[in-house]
Amino acid sequence: MFDKRLMKLCPESKKYIIGNIVFQWLELILNAVMIWIVADNIQDFYYKEKDVSDLIFPVFIILCTVILRFITTRCVTRMSYLASKTVKKKLRQLIYEKLLRLGVNYREKVSTSELVQESVEGVDQLESYFGQYVPQFFYAFIAPLTLFFLFGFGGSWFAAAILLICVPLIPGTIMMVQKFAKKLLAKYWGQYTELGSTFLENLQGMTTLKTYQADEFKNQEMNKESENFRFVTMKVLTMQLNSIIIMDFFTYSGAAIGIIIATNSFVNGSVSLAACIFMILLSAEFFLPMRRLGSYFHVAMNGMAASDKIFKFLNSEDDLDKTLDINEIKDIRIENLSFEYEEDREVIHGIDIVIPRNSFVGIVGESGCGKSTVASLLIGKNTYNKGHIFINGKELKEINEKALLKEITYVSHNSFFFKGSVRDNLLLGKKAATDEELWTALKSANLDEFFRNEKGLETELLENAANISGGQKQRLALARALLHDSDMYIFDEATSNIDVDSEEIILNHILEMKSKKTVLFISHRLMNTVNADNIYVMDKGKIVDRGKHSDLLEKCKIYHKLWNTQQELENYGKEVM
Ligand SMILES: Nc1ncnc2c1ncn2[C@@H]1O[C@H](COP(=O)(O)OP(=O)(O)OP(=O)(O)O)[C@@H](O)[C@H]1O
Ligand SMILES: [Mg+2]
Repeated sequence: MFDKRLMKLCPESKKYIIGNIVFQWLELILNAVMIWIVADNIQDFYYKEKDVSDLIFPVFIILCTVILRFITTRCVTRMSYLASKTVKKKLRQLIYEKLLRLGVNYREKVSTSELVQESVEGVDQLESYFGQYVPQFFYAFIAPLTLFFLFGFGGSWFAAAILLICVPLIPGTIMMVQKFAKKLLAKYWGQYTELGSTFLENLQGMTTLKTYQADEFKNQEMNKESENFRFVTMKVLTMQLNSIIIMDFFTYSGAAIGIIIATNSFVNGSVSLAACIFMILLSAEFFLPMRRLGSYFHVAMNGMAASDKIFKFLNSEDDLDKTLDINEIKDIRIENLSFEYEEDREVIHGIDIVIPRNSFVGIVGESGCGKSTVASLLIGKNTYNKGHIFINGKELKEINEKALLKEITYVSHNSFFFKGSVRDNLLLGKKAATDEELWTALKSANLDEFFRNEKGLETELLENAANISGGQKQRLALARALLHDSDMYIFDEATSNIDVDSEEIILNHILEMKSKKTVLFISHRLMNTVNADNIYVMDKGKIVDRGKHSDLLEKCKIYHKLWNTQQELENYGKEVM
């Protein structure tokens, strides 16, 4: 009924939870005072000769209690808000920090849409847990005990004892449904995140769906998932309503028992009229806090189910476990490395690659042979379990990501840009770069002329640079990478969309870097790597040969065939002309 992990998570919220309980308790006392004054005055009117003017003082006291109750109610709400605010802020901060620690390989642990849902909706669900459920959990025990003593001293100990005995029937019901509810809510959250990811995916792929008129089909698929979600939601609601009905039955039966005992005691003269009225008006209060706990419990269970997922994410292994540091790249040795994205589907089979310092190494091979996978293992985006990658003799998976990515710059064919100016995006590469340096980088990527004709470095880019062409985007990514002063560069089809003239300028620049930087150039176009010191030829996840371009042309059949096919293609147009 109580999640200790959640409580440990945010000790700062404890004071607000205690405050909440204290104010609720004060509210109960004020309520009891008010009811006692009402009951006492009814008794006085009934037995004694009283004037209306005698009511002025009691009415004044009642008014004071009403005002005080208003204030305490406000304080309860405030405490509830502060407790949940603190927890929500802390939890979102933890998720964010965890995400930063996980870094580039976060997708191995959680999908983007799941992460968004957990940190937005999931964390929101915990609002009721801390704001209502936890304080109510304690108050629901304190309130009946307080009333037990008030009833005992002010009326009948017998009635007080009977009512107190009936109270545990409600938490009993809660415990009975808990086991069932836990399973059901885990299913509910599973369906919810699944529906969320499908929705996000369909939204992102809307243009494709429209192009292939597949939107109707996807619509039906989503309808099916929504129907499953509706079904599980209804099941959750039915379970909640059923348990509320049972709790209501116990609450109001208990209150009825209290009323019957109070009236009986008055009739046989063991309690006064005032005490009888007092007990009648307050007997429901014995049960209502527990009843409220029951209804908060369902919302809290939802929060707990969400928090299970959040804790699973927070407790997953992260970069803090990687303790090794590097501050330069001397050499890289890949030894007998194998890798599978999914179980029993190995895509890299025991490869060996050596990348010496300040060398230009190429990896070539047909599409799907595993080139990008090698790159993603080298930057820690994916984690390997078979074989080794040594950087300066240290195992890569033990090196912390920050140190690694400071020394290795990875440029793919599809780099990300943020909404903002060209300057902002370039400064990601080098925070303190001067305008001159930015223009030099743009020039190396053959992009300076284009931006000079726009608004220069202040040219605004839309999200993911949607307002420039694919080739311009790749060139901008290269300019940004060149600004990042790292020891090693991995270019993964980084020039795949670039026009021939620009590509030549960029390749020449990369070749010039060779004396100072280590370059790994991944490309399916063999022309790009003809000047490399060493070229590794990959085929179906294996390294089939390695050497310089001229050697490979002679000794490697696969390379030879690829080269000829590409040359034929490039000369195709020329021959026709
Ligand atoms: N995220 C992933 N999950 C599962 N399998 C993947 C994933 N990424 C790639 N693969 C599989 O791994 C194999 C190698 O893919 P990889 O992207 O490394 O090829 P590549 O040589 O870079 O191809 P290309 O030249 O087309 O970029 C392929 O069979 C592909 O289906
Ligand atoms: Mg690739």
